Amino acid sequence: MKLVITGSLGNISQPLTEILIARGHHITVISSDPKKQTAIEALGASAAIGSIADVDFLTTKFQGADAVYAMIPLSFTEPDLGEYLRRIAKNYVQALNTTKVRRVVVMSGWVADLIRSENVENEFNGLKAPITFMRPGSFYTNFYQSIDLIKGRGLMGKLLTLRYSGLWALLTGKSGLLMGNCGGDDRIIFVSPKDIAEAVAEELVLMPEQNTIRYVGSEELTCNEAAGIIGSAVGKPWLKWVLLSDKAMFQGLKMAKVPEKLAETLVEMQAAIHSGKPLENFHRNSPKMGKVKLADFAKEFAQVYHQK
Ligand SMILES: NC(=O)c1ccc[n+]([C@@H]2O[C@H](COP(=O)([O-])OP(=O)(O)OC[C@H]3O[C@@H](n4cnc5c(N)ncnc54)[C@H](OP(=O)(O)O)[C@@H]3O)[C@@H](O)[C@H]2O)c1
Repeated sequence: MKLVITGSLGNISQPLTEILIARGHHITVISSDPKKQTAIEALGASAAIGSIADVDFLTTKFQGADAVYAMIPLSFTEPDLGEYLRRIAKNYVQALNTTKVRRVVVMSGWVADLIRSENVENEFNGLKAPITFMRPGSFYTNFYQSIDLIKGRGLMGKLLTLRYSGLWALLTGKSGLLMGNCGGDDRIIFVSPKDIAEAVAEELVLMPEQNTIRYVGSEELTCNEAAGIIGSAVGKPWLKWVLLSDKAMFQGLKMAKVPEKLAETLVEMQAAIHSGKPLENFHRNSPKMGKVKLADFAKEFAQVYHQK
């Protein structure tokens, strides 16, 4: 089949491309970065360099495709995440309808239907082809964003460790923590992007008659259990995942210069996870868990952690 993969060599799209090429499909990978062309071609795919913000570019690249994997990268620079999602989703819908692509898999998330600010799935309402909305849990790769906090590095990391782990951290020198407005003993579905890639690869070649939803997870753990696995891999088995109030989380994101509307959305997403509702929905759909466990990912994480 001729398949178009958006998301460049990202967490999901690179393993997805590798799986599909190994299964004999013809793959075009969309990237906004001309420097990725060689690496994309080295996988055996064609590179299409341009932006998903450009509807004419998308229309040209979707021409003749049997199926498309459509993802909208999270942007930390767009001031209004909702407006950005609507704009890019509209481009996808227009380009996919114009080119009459018959099958589409859209990357969504396990909290998509539970937050007020935006639901990416609603933005694909006008699409004529059957869609599968992928609803993965929380990616293992999110831990890369917390390397500085885990290291207790920088004034912010040190102050936060002292504030939330207390005198104990000062006396023992055991710095570092994870934090969020979900955390502590909250149970989370964690997921490896490699397991998501397997699930997307399965879906792309199916032809359901109507829209479907697919939840994807690799391992269910409490936040503190996950912190223990990541911490042990980097020589900090005491690592904890501190649960913050929504307000404290919002203030922290603002201090980190995250645009206000984006900060509101991120807080809303984590609050939804803290509520336990995404976990209920996940179990109601009873998907089979993927193969890659957090302990497997923690080995890769430790290598990156020690290089930084
Ligand atoms: N993190 C989570 O826990 C979580 C949970 C549920 C759902 N999700 C969803 O999963 C998706 C993220 O997937 P991922 O981690 O595989 O992505 P990723 O690793 O962030 O990769 C996305 C890639 O898209 C490319 N890109 C960015 N802007 C572009 C543009 N304007 N035009 C064309 N390409 C562009 C970038 O590569 P180039 O520089 O090469 O263009 C980027 O590396 C998001 O939709 C997110 O909402 C995430």
